[in-house]
Amino acid sequence: MDQDLSRTSLSRDAILLTGQVALVTGGGGGIGRGIALGLAEFGADVAIVDIDGEAAERVAALVREKGRQALVIVADVMDRDAARGAVATALEGLGAVDILVNNAGGTRPIKLVDMTDRQIDRQIDLNLKGLVAITQAAAKAMIARGAGGSIINIASIEGLRAAPTYSVYAACKAGMLNFTRTLALELGEHAIRVNAIAPDLVPTETMARFAPGIVSPEGRAAQARYIPLGRAGNLDDCAGAAVFLASAMAGYVTGVTLSVDGGTWASSGWTRNDADGWRLFN
Ligand SMILES: NC(=O)c1ccc[n+]([C@@H]2O[C@H](COP(=O)([O-])OP(=O)(O)OC[C@H]3O[C@@H](n4cnc5c(N)ncnc54)[C@H](O)[C@@H]3O)[C@@H](O)[C@H]2O)c1
Repeated sequence: MDQDLSRTSLSRDAILLTGQVALVTGGGGGIGRGIALGLAEFGADVAIVDIDGEAAERVAALVREKGRQALVIVADVMDRDAARGAVATALEGLGAVDILVNNAGGTRPIKLVDMTDRQIDRQIDLNLKGLVAITQAAAKAMIARGAGGSIINIASIEGLRAAPTYSVYAACKAGMLNFTRTLALELGEHAIRVNAIAPDLVPTETMARFAPGIVSPEGRAAQARYIPLGRAGNLDDCAGAAVFLASAMAGYVTGVTLSVDGGTWASSGWTRNDADGWRLFN
């Protein structure tokens, strides 16, 4: 037998990202900011790609406080040339892209029948087309370097379930999940792993501005009822999942969607009320 089947060698260092370079789109705010800081905490240097240069600079300063290198790249992922240029700038400035986090995205609730063509195109450009060019450029760079890599797509629970008032966004996120699975097959031979994270509600500063009810006591009470773990997600919940998927701890994980949702996807129609506990169609 040429294989030692009793061999084990897992070390706690496997979670570290020391010497690796991450590129995080939308890293200037919200979930992307949390992921950029989480990756830096575990040792990665980080290129922060965002349309908001000032926000990205603030995150870069925090990355540097952790003793890691940070590079701010002001670019709109919806612009193919700018997205490809962002990868080139990261390669030039930090020497590699080992980890790509496609996080820039988002939406506001609106029924399809009320959407203008411009709104529909923007949703698709931001949430689906926006990740294709940058992923292509990063994958080419990873292949050329020959050291493998990890691509992490920030999808949503809305890519897994029906999502009234989010139809175009939900379609894009579902597309992102199959893009993830398909690329896992195309890139596996290069040791490039491709995975997705599907958060449910993660209140961010942007969200608190546009939908303050989400962070109100009433909002939190409702979240405690319908989310099995009894609370909304936070930036560290998403960052922890990203660090895991980026690291050697997930060295045999590719093509998966990791739900970071407190159990909402699993609950699928079950809700909790104070009187009777869990019920279907409460
Ligand atoms: N927050 C949630 O509850 C939640 C839930 C599920 C999925 N998600 C997904 O997580 C990702 C991040 O969402 P968030 O809530 O943290 O968003 P956010 O609005 O709080 O932050 C988004 C960041 O991306 C930047 N950005 C926006 N458009 C960009 C573009 N075209 N190019 C480059 N940068 C751009 C913004 O400047 C900002 O810094 C999105 O893909 C979203 O669909 C969020």
